[in-house]
Amino acid sequence: MADNFRVLVLFSGRGSNFENLARHQGAYQVVGALCDNPLAEGINVAQRAGISVACVPRSDYPTRALQKQEILRLAIGAKPDLICLAGFMQIVAPEFLSAFSDRILNIHPSLLPKFPGLDTHARALAAGESMHGCTVHVVDAGLDTGAPIAQAEVPVAPGTSAELLATQVLQQEHRLYPWVVSQIACGQIKIRLGKVQATAQARSEAESYGFVYRGESL
Ligand code: GRF
Repeated sequence: MADNFRVLVLFSGRGSNFENLARHQGAYQVVGALCDNPLAEGINVAQRAGISVACVPRSDYPTRALQKQEILRLAIGAKPDLICLAGFMQIVAPEFLSAFSDRILNIHPSLLPKFPGLDTHARALAAGESMHGCTVHVVDAGLDTGAPIAQAEVPVAPGTSAELLATQVLQQEHRLYPWVVSQIACGQIKIRLGKVQATAQARSEAESYGFVYRGESL
């Protein structure tokens, strides 16, 4: 396993993307995880995978600012090359963004810029979308607004439910996120000043996997 590209994962809940990122280590190494919810199933995932996880619940700190300060301190200590948000249910602090500029990714269960925020599957159904999916994007100060890197699409079958759609999108998330992280670890996708660029090799690989690359050419 390569140990020279260090990935730190932040999650708040189930942790299936965290587990899946850990399963696909090779080009990168998941060196640790941070969690803000002591009841998160992802903590068990980390223990099973033998990955160290630090839990930083809001209730342990007098203010949200102090909690965020501790998250930043722990993240800096992990010396990550890349930070992957994976169901991390808070907006990262401006100090966190500046400490790790161009090095924070998120996965979101919609084809951004459509449906930022919560309840994306029900909203996609209510809007009568024929195509839904997920996006890996660079994190900026907004809610799901950073530059998109790549998307995986899921056709919406007539009469489908939000639950079934969620399952189908999650399957695609588990294909897409490790692929993007591996491409960044190998230098095939680069992020500079919030802009995403990919080599011809990465762009053609994205196409062969059925992903839609959303950045620029390198
Ligand atoms: C995923 O749907 C992800 O797109 C969103 O939060 C969910 C996290 O799921 N940001 P899990 O905790 O990785 O299973």
